[in-house]
Amino acid sequence: MFRDIADIEKEAIEEIQKAQDASDLEKARIKFLGRRGIITDIMSRLPELAPEQRPLVGKQANDLKVKLITLISERQRQLKDIAQTGTKEKIDLSLPGIKEELGHKHPLISTIEQICDIFKGIGFKVVEGPEIETEYNNFTGLNIPIEHPSRDVFDTFYLKTQGQKLLLRSHTSPVQIRAMSKYKPPLAVIVPGKVYRPDAVDASHSFMFHQVEGFLVDSDVKFSHLKGVLTYFCQEMFGKDIKMRFRPHFFPFTEPSAEVDISCIICKGKGCSVCGRKGWLEILGSGMIHPNVFKHVGYDSKKYTGFAFGMGVERITMLKYGINDIRLFFDNDLRFLRQF
Ligand code: DAH
Repeated sequence: MFRDIADIEKEAIEEIQKAQDASDLEKARIKFLGRRGIITDIMSRLPELAPEQRPLVGKQANDLKVKLITLISERQRQLKDIAQTGTKEKIDLSLPGIKEELGHKHPLISTIEQICDIFKGIGFKVVEGPEIETEYNNFTGLNIPIEHPSRDVFDTFYLKTQGQKLLLRSHTSPVQIRAMSKYKPPLAVIVPGKVYRPDAVDASHSFMFHQVEGFLVDSDVKFSHLKGVLTYFCQEMFGKDIKMRFRPHFFPFTEPSAEVDISCIICKGKGCSVCGRKGWLEILGSGMIHPNVFKHVGYDSKKYTGFAFGMGVERITMLKYGINDIRLFFDNDLRFLRQF
C-alpha cells in the first residue's frame, strides 16, 4: 500500500543533490515535505495501517523527514557558496596563504656585480665573451708561446674539433683580443665570466671558477694610471684604510707585470692564519699590455699604451666572508647559500 521508505529516501536525496538553484530545491521540498508531499501523505495515512505497523512506519517516515530537512538546508548553503565564489569548494579566507619561497643572488654573483659597479662608476663598460674560445684568442693572441705550460692538455680543456682548435677558456683575458679587434681606442672594459681548468677539486681548486678581467687602452696610459685605478677599486671594495703592494711578476701578455696584494682584511696586516702570517693577501695580476698583443689586434703600439688586470671572484668572495672551502659555492646547499 505504501512505497518503500528506503526507495523514497534514495529518490529524495538524488533530487536534492541535483538541485541547481533555490527553485529546484523548493520543488524537491514540496514534493517530499509539502502539505501534499510524499512523506506528509504517509504520515496522514498511518491510521490505514495495521496497529502494530504504525509505530515503525511512523518513526521511519519521521526520521526521513528530519534527514531531508537537514539535507535541504545543507544544499541551500552549498548553492549560496557556489553563487558567491564560483566553485564547489568552500574558501576559507582566514587561512594564511602558502608563501612562495623567494630566491636571492648567489654570493659569487653579488661579488661580480659589486666589482663591475665599482668600475662602471669610473667609466668602464662591461663586455662578455664566450666560454668556448679559440686557441688563438686564449693563448697566441695574448703572446703566450706554444711551449708555455698553461697550453698543455693537462692545464686546459681542449675540445675535440677538426680544423680550428677550440677549448674552454682558461681565463677571461681572451676577451681582450675580442674587444680590441672589434673596437678602436680609447677603450675601458671590464669582463666578468666563467673560466675552466682541469684541476683536481679540493678546498681551494675547482675545474670551473669566475674571473673579472679589466683593461684600458688610450694614448699615454702609464703604470701610475694602473696603480691609481686599482687603488681606487681596492678601497671601494675592501675599505678606505686598505694598504696595497705591487710585486714584480711575469705574465706573457703584460710588460712590466705585477701581482697586487692588499693588507690582510682579517688581521689588518698583523699576521693571521688567513694570510699565512704574512699580513698580505694576493688578489690580482696586472701589468702594461704587451706590444705583441697590440700587434695581434692591429693597434699601433707607438700610438697607444694600456694596462690590464685580472682577478679571481671566488678568492675575493672567500676573503670577504671568511669562507675556507671553494666547493661550498657549488654544492647548492641552501644552509650555506641562505647566509648571504
Ligand atoms: N689571466 C691571468 C690568469 O688567469 C690573470 C691576469 C694577470 C690577467 C695579469 C691580466 C693581467 O689581464 O694583466 O691568471
